Amino acid sequence: MEDTNIYVLGAGSIGCLFSYYLKKYNNNVILITRDNNTKESKNQETNFEKSLSVEFKYKSSEGKLIDNDTIQCLVKTPTQISNNNEKIKILLITTKSPDTLEAIKTIESSLHSECTIILMQNGVLGTYSLLTEYFLTKNKHLNSPLPRILVGTTSNGSYRISPLNIVHAGKGTTYIGEPNGDYTTFYHENNTGSDNLELINHQFSPLQELNITVYTEAKDYTLKLLPLLQTKLIVNACLNPLTALFECLNGWIVDIIDTESQTIKNINTKDHPCSSMIKEICQEAAWVLVDDAKDKINNDNNNRENDATQNDQSFNFELPISLKHLSEKAKSQAEEWEKSVIDVAKKTCLNRNSMLQDIDAKRVTTEIEFLNGFLVKEATKKYIRILQEHSVFETPNQPILKVNEMLVRLIKIKSWIRSQN
Ligand SMILES: *[C@@H]1O[C@H](CO)[C@@H](O)[C@H](O)[C@H]1NC(C)=O
Ligand SMILES: *[C@@H]1O[C@H](CO)[C@@H](O)[C@H](O)[C@H]1NC(C)=O
Ligand SMILES: *[C@@H]1O[C@H](CO)[C@@H](O)[C@H](O)[C@H]1NC(C)=O
Ligand SMILES: *[C@@H]1O[C@H](CO)[C@@H](O)[C@H](O)[C@H]1NC(C)=O
Ligand SMILES: *[C@@H]1O[C@H](CO)[C@@H](O)[C@H](O)[C@H]1NC(C)=O
Repeated sequence: MEDTNIYVLGAGSIGCLFSYYLKKYNNNVILITRDNNTKESKNQETNFEKSLSVEFKYKSSEGKLIDNDTIQCLVKTPTQISNNNEKIKILLITTKSPDTLEAIKTIESSLHSECTIILMQNGVLGTYSLLTEYFLTKNKHLNSPLPRILVGTTSNGSYRISPLNIVHAGKGTTYIGEPNGDYTTFYHENNTGSDNLELINHQFSPLQELNITVYTEAKDYTLKLLPLLQTKLIVNACLNPLTALFECLNGWIVDIIDTESQTIKNINTKDHPCSSMIKEICQEAAWVLVDDAKDKINNDNNNRENDATQNDQSFNFELPISLKHLSEKAKSQAEEWEKSVIDVAKKTCLNRNSMLQDIDAKRVTTEIEFLNGFLVKEATKKYIRILQEHSVFETPNQPILKVNEMLVRLIKIKSWIRSQN
């Protein structure tokens, strides 16, 4: 199989980490950085190679502490790629979630007609939803080819010290797969040719240090990858806004951090003032994401079968969503997520969350729209769908997810005020 150039969009810690290991395993890697809007840089014929340094903070399998390594990596701007007439066949997107759409627009003229995009981001379910909508709209109006879009998640961290200089703190595990849904179905209607998933597998799976699994079977997405992505989403939807609002380290959301020993005290979770809020975030998420064969309709005085064909103006769906709307399956999923939140918060108790860091850095946009905001958008779609099934056509005029919607609003206000002063 011939190796294809891999373009990495987003030179943050994950982008640099993947670039480093892809290069180390003999792939051609081009790291895309932002256009530098100075006249000089636009016209300059520059050397595209730049040093990319990684400092390793984990022990190798032999128990030795490995230190630093620097490689030469091709770094280009969208303008340079376009001027060279390069066509991108594999694109790994590692930008912060809110930057995804703007970033893709800077290079979309360079996408090959058979391009595969891999999204490897924090709010990946949200960016997937955004990008698929974007490309479908473009396809409808301009008949432009759809890229194949995959999603991925990687655990275990790297962080950035300065541009093109990162720390790899521990070996992680990475999963990549193709969501199943309308976009993928539509894509495959017209793209029956080359199997680029095999190509991705061939080029990514050798990267031992990132322990990459590419799911090539469609069923593995639903059974294996989606549950991981959802759990990660819910953990972030609890940890990020709560730590950002209360300005605390991760551990404080579920426990007490002993300042002397820098460890947690393992108090009873029920005694923690955040616990009911975490519970509610998880329950609301479970209503949105757990796919019930038949939605349990909250209609206390009304036990008759709901006939979808009948115009049912008396149909009444009580908002906001709460425990009583959940099926048994959704309830137990909410409880599992709650446990994951507590577990991750304890394991990462001394971490300063990325959303708190964004707010401290006076960034006006955080990832909130791709975490709790994503849940809110999906809840709205689901609610409207349920109403339509009962031939009720109206848009919700009150919150569907009380807690998640409130968190989105509070974080937006907080990041805005902080960015102003
Ligand atoms: C952008 O241009 C400025 C001035 O020409 C230069 O100092 C800087 O290093 C450039 N940045 C990048 C990322 O190329
Ligand atoms: C690794 O790099 C860091 C900063 O990039 C530096 O402080 C440290 O001394 C380096 N370690 C070695 C062993 O070169
Ligand atoms: C990172 O991976 C190591 C083992 O490889 C594991 O012990 C540790 O808990 C992981 N850390 C995080 C934050 O996932
Ligand atoms: C697939 O091809 C048909 C016929 O050429 C066209 O009408 C349709 O828009 C295409 N769909 C996509 C997703 O490109
Ligand atoms: C690598 O991934 C596999 C499959 O997900 C997992 O079973 C294994 O424990 C991982 N290895 C390490 C060292 O994390």
